[in-house]
This record gives sequence, C-alpha cells and structure tokens, in this order.
Amino acid sequence: MILPFDEKNKKEYYKLLDKVFESNFWSEGLMVKEFENKFSEYTNLNSAAVTNGGTALLTILSYLKVQDKEVIVPTNTFYATSQAVKMAGATVVYADCNKYDLCISLEDIKKKVTEKTKVIIVVHIGGHIAFDIDELVKFCDRKKIFLVEDCAHAHGGIFNGRMAGDFGIAGAYSFYSTKTMPTGEGGMIVSKDNDLIEWTRLFRNYGKKVIDGKVNYPLKNGFNYRMNEFTAALGIVQMQRLNEILNWKTELAQKYDEIFQNKINYPCGMKSGYYKYIIFEYSNLKIETGKVFNKSDFGHIIDGLDIKLPNSEWIADNHKCPPIYFGWEYANKNISELKTILLN
Ligand SMILES: Cc1ncc(COP(=O)(O)O)c(C=O)c1O
Repeated sequence: MILPFDEKNKKEYYKLLDKVFESNFWSEGLMVKEFENKFSEYTNLNSAAVTNGGTALLTILSYLKVQDKEVIVPTNTFYATSQAVKMAGATVVYADCNKYDLCISLEDIKKKVTEKTKVIIVVHIGGHIAFDIDELVKFCDRKKIFLVEDCAHAHGGIFNGRMAGDFGIAGAYSFYSTKTMPTGEGGMIVSKDNDLIEWTRLFRNYGKKVIDGKVNYPLKNGFNYRMNEFTAALGIVQMQRLNEILNWKTELAQKYDEIFQNKINYPCGMKSGYYKYIIFEYSNLKIETGKVFNKSDFGHIIDGLDIKLPNSEWIADNHKCPPIYFGWEYANKNISELKTILLN
C-alpha cells in the first residue's frame, strides 16, 4: 500500500506548520481546535481530538464508568477494541458477527447480555455502517445499555444521511497510517453529547481545567491523551482531501461491482467509505490486500477463550479484499482490464 501525498498537499501542510511555529503553541493551540471544528462540520457531531483510536475508545469507556462491568465486543475486530475495554477496567464478552455485513450480531448479543452489561461496541468493520444499527440502538435503549461505535474503518460511511458516530452515545475514529484519512497517529471522539466532549477535554489533559486563570483538577483519573499541533495540521490537510479520496474509492468500487457478484450487498441508504472492498469465495483472485480480519485477529483466540463464533470463522476463511487503497496504480483501468489484472 502507498500513501499518496503530493507536492500540493505538502505545500498546504508546510503553510500550516509555519503557522504553528509562528503561534509558538506546539500543543493545545489553534490547529487542534481547527481540526476538531472541521471534523464536526463534516460529521455534524461534536468532536474532541486525542492521540489515537485506542485512546478514543478508552476515553469514551472511562466516561461511561464501565469498571467491573461487562462490555460486549465483536471478536472480529482489531485487538485495540478489546484492549480499550480491559484498560477501562471492564470484562470483555465476545460476540459473533453477521455474514451479511461482518458487523456484530444482534442475535448473538441477545444470548450474551447480562445484568452486568453496560456497553455494546459496534465496529463498523470494512467502512460501512452496521446494517442493523437502528435495531442495535433500539435494543440498547430498551435495555439501558450504552452503544459505542468503533469508527476506525468508517470515515465516509453514511447510512440514511447519518455518519458513523451519530447512532450511539459516541464514536471513536482512528487516523492510523493505513486508515482512509491517515495522520500517522491520531484519533477523534465524536458525539452529540456535549457533556461527554467537555469531559474528554479534561480527561485527555490530566483532568486539568483553568478557571479564571487558576489551574484546577476537577477530574482525578485523567491522563495525557492530547493530540499535538503538528498532527492536527496534517489532519486539516487530510480533511480537505477526504472527499477526493472517498470519490476515488467509490469510482473503483463501482467497477468492482461489475466484476464481483458474491460480495457485501449494501442496503438502500448505505454509502460505504470503502476502507475495504469485501468479496466472498473468490479463490481465483490474483492480487489482494490484507483481509479485514484473520482468525489470528479474533479477540477470543488471542485471549485463549474456548468459544464458538461460527460466522466470524466462516468470514475469516472465505473473504478476500481486492485493492481499494487510495492511489492503487491500476484503479483507472476499465472493467475488462481490471478483470484480467485481478482474476485468474
Ligand atoms: C477496528 C479498530 N479499532 C481501533 C483501532 C485502533 O486505532 P489506533 O491504531 O489509532 O489506536 C483500529 C486500528 O488501528 C481498528 O482497526
């Protein structure tokens, strides 16, 4: 995979770096604020920047006070999701996924939920929103459980006009290098809940709050999860490019739709951000990128738990991902050329 960032992008970035140096604020300055504002405009949600996607999840879970409670997590995610739960002091309960969208199965959640369940984490895996998101919201409301969205893959994922992070109490984005909108390291918490966002501003800064020029520590469990100004400047440039990146991916996906029949079929109203393009049972695919997940990524396997999660296993064995990372060299080929390039 390559990370395209051309001369024009570099110039934009260098201009912002000059501003950082002129401002004399290398942390807690104007860039983080502007990046947050731009992310808020894009998602229509309140935003707070943090150091990475994992700390974004940890922060949300800490706000929700999950200590000594249970959090239901899909096994087919990056281990970061489970680790955030453990770091927040809760027990991870692993659930299976659906074959149709690879996201957490409500049917399996119903078997795993107990009176100790405080949070369910839905991971919008692959770049689309979980197809059952409305049912998940209703279930959580009924059971008085918080729904948290892991949006690490879901930049540009939209369902019925709503972005990832708009459905639960909060969403956690990652800007890790392989993600759709990379800044190297970085994360963003989005939420409609003002209190959660204001609390995050304290939590990410050792619990510190300056009131009338005087430093106070209203939060005792904060730590340093602040994003620095240089990363935020890169985030601003990447935001300006996001629609271009998403349109590029969508155009390639439209060609893939003509080539691959056995694939994820999106419901009406769903727009994937195409972190990955996911196909099933294509043993003749010649060029592929990493799968969305392998069996060795399963949280329950890493944790040494002997449980059966058959859909996740089936997907791990039977899905593949033709390249859809921004800048793939053959993306501008026509459908028949792509068929020759990709299939045996
Ligand atoms: C699904 C998922 N959740 C969380 C993370 C953690 O993000 P970060 O690496 O920015 O901490 C990642 C990726 O890295 C991820 O893929």
